[in-house]
Amino acid sequence: MRIAVYPGSFDPVTLGHLDIIIRASRLFDKLYVAVLSNSNKRERYFSWHERVEMLQEATADLPKVHCESFQGLAVEYARSRKAQAIVRGLRAVSDFEYELKLAEANRHLAPEIETVFLMTSHQYSFISSSIVREVAQLGGNIDGWVPRNVAERIAQKYGPRREE
Ligand code: COA
Repeated sequence: MRIAVYPGSFDPVTLGHLDIIIRASRLFDKLYVAVLSNSNKRERYFSWHERVEMLQEATADLPKVHCESFQGLAVEYARSRKAQAIVRGLRAVSDFEYELKLAEANRHLAPEIETVFLMTSHQYSFISSSIVREVAQLGGNIDGWVPRNVAERIAQKYGPRREE
């Protein structure tokens, strides 16, 4: 059975992430999506629990996808799920350097696990969780950037969108 994990901070999950999840789930028999901690990012907007719930709601119609959280190394998580691969999305050249370091470090830690990169579909290439949060906080329109359930959560947290 081909199993992969897709780790990330997902604060919150965007349509760009969902695009990667849908496409990766076609390549593997099982895809575990996990909220992991990124120690470079100190500030958190949604709790672990909220982030996992948003992922679960957004992927409810994808039977091969399981969403959860994990504390520890991505490779340990992959091993715990008996995964052969770690999936990551690449949006632009600027992602490459960071992702290369991550993939090399992970390969060093767990040579048996391959990192598989998928190119994010071009319509989502500029979206990031922090852009979503910033635009939402300032009352901008984030329709088309996040799944509907996430837009609803954001509206609850930051208040409804201001109309001009
Ligand atoms: N669509 C939209 N946005 C995307 C995206 C896509 N396809 N791919 C990445 N992004 C954005 C995210 O929204 C996020 O934006 P932000 O910086 O504004 O929040 C950014 O790109 C990167 O996010 P993400 O993919 O969630 O990864 P991350 O860099 O936050 O997390 C971990 C990386 C969690 C996988 C990594 O830190 C990790 O493995 N941690 C566990 C500990 C460990 O093993 N460390 C590594 C040892 S070498």
